[in-house]
Amino acid sequence: MGNITFTMIKPEAVEAGSSGAIFKIIEENNFRIVSLKKVLLSAEKASKFYEVHKDRPFYSELVEYMTSGPIFAAILEKDNAVLDFRELIGSTNPSEAKDGTIRKLFAESMAKNAIHGSDSDENAIIESDFHFDSNERF
Ligand code: CDP
Ligand code: MG
Repeated sequence: MGNITFTMIKPEAVEAGSSGAIFKIIEENNFRIVSLKKVLLSAEKASKFYEVHKDRPFYSELVEYMTSGPIFAAILEKDNAVLDFRELIGSTNPSEAKDGTIRKLFAESMAKNAIHGSDSDENAIIESDFHFDSNERF
């Protein structure tokens, strides 16, 4: 079981001014912020990040959305980080997300669902390496 996960606060949540409130919840739930930056993803980078979904009907909309405004990208550390963070963010579809989860509180829709969380230890490492160099981790 790994101890890091990767997250992004998605454009609509950044635009809504919810980033601080979301990071407060993240820290209150004992995740340590290892790395953090605000970045506007290029279409190339967003396409690559979501490449596993390239054959899904929502892919082009997803890439367009994720490049529509800046995001916050972060590496988080905690025991059992991936699973505990998925629990904290809630279901992909906010109408199915449990009370108190970040998506229940902040998501606008299935597409604009406020936040990303890695789905496995392997992807947590791949996604962290995709966004951060080793000298950007503390
Ligand atoms: O983000 P998560 O791992 O919960 O879901 P995913 O299945 O890996 O999908 C990635 C992202 O694509 C979601 O977070 C949504 O923003 C978007 N999506 C969508 O717009 N419509 C769907 N039917 C499924 C996902
Ligand atoms: Mg996913």
